Amino acid sequence: SAAEKGGWSSFMAKEISEEPEAISKTLLGRIVDGAVRLSELDVLGEGALANIDRVVILGCGTASYSGMLGKYAIEKWARIPVDVELSHEFRYRDPVINDRTLVVSISQSGETMDTLMAVKYAVAAGAKTLSICNTQGATIARESDAAIYTHAGPEVAVASTKAFVAQVAALYLFGLHLAQVRGTLSPEEISGLLGELQALPDQLATVLEQHDAITQLAGWMTDTRSVLFLGRHAGYPVALEGALKLKELAYIHAEGFAAGELKHGPIALIEPGQPVFVIVPSPRAKDSLHKKVVSNIQEIRARGARILAIAEQGDAAVLPYADLVIPIPLASTLFEPLLAVAPLQIFAMELAAAKGLDVDQPRNLAKSVTVE
Ligand code: G6P
Repeated sequence: SAAEKGGWSSFMAKEISEEPEAISKTLLGRIVDGAVRLSELDVLGEGALANIDRVVILGCGTASYSGMLGKYAIEKWARIPVDVELSHEFRYRDPVINDRTLVVSISQSGETMDTLMAVKYAVAAGAKTLSICNTQGATIARESDAAIYTHAGPEVAVASTKAFVAQVAALYLFGLHLAQVRGTLSPEEISGLLGELQALPDQLATVLEQHDAITQLAGWMTDTRSVLFLGRHAGYPVALEGALKLKELAYIHAEGFAAGELKHGPIALIEPGQPVFVIVPSPRAKDSLHKKVVSNIQEIRARGARILAIAEQGDAAVLPYADLVIPIPLASTLFEPLLAVAPLQIFAMELAAAKGLDVDQPRNLAKSVTVE
């Protein structure tokens, strides 16, 4: 009903508006005196997380993309090898796991059968299992040794939005917890990163203020047949998620690519008028990724692509080549996805709405897929 949507035109619109809160509620009570406190991990027993030598992250759909960000964060901060894999691929290929493997499953519903079967397989193989789940008491959480609940609140729209940002927040907390346990970051570094994490909800609220501008863009693009998304490093999972959202909601062919992969194939797709969203890394990061992505933009622009850039506020290098810039506030590389994904969610939703489609219940999809 209209009342349940709290004045929004769809559950999805309401749920996107709740993203800042989804992050802050997921952090609530879990950061104490500049350190991570995840008491729900105590059940794993003393020393359990110090003894693992590998992490495997599992999920399907949007959850698998939050898992990719979890991998980047855990490897960077806790210096432990992480694989991220689709649950259904993992389950049937005879993967190498043992009692020193921690299997982290990610599921909003906690009922996705593909992920549940993969977790059961991991349990049988003797791995330690941790569930990141948004639904209290869900099957996957119950089947796992421990659970970190995301507190995004109930998600009704089929396409996942606020649960995604909450999953990333929970994975980052977990990554910093691992760094704490394993001593790979100093207490000062950890408290600095936690401070940045806590600043994200307010920063994200300012990104959401651009909703109307994105709606206008979507309105111009209702006849578009194909949209590409490019991102690098932490921007890559964002590109994949942007493409997934557009397929799910607007039934438009969409692909996400790693920007570095462009020259190895996807650039052949670029022809005049092709819209390409580019998630641009921060020009302030101490790596050369910003420059590399800007040169990707120049390459595809020269071939006629229409550039829709999501870039840091004040990033002047992008302006001459972009047809539109959606600015996001300053954040460290790993935190940028939490600011960059909302514009893509809004874009997909508003494009679907402009085409007269049901954004909460896209055709052929289910909120929770409880069959393999
Ligand atoms: C379905 C939904 C997706 C979701 C995926 C995983 O395919 O349509 O939006 O990302 O399942 O769901 P889960 O509940 O396991 O996160």
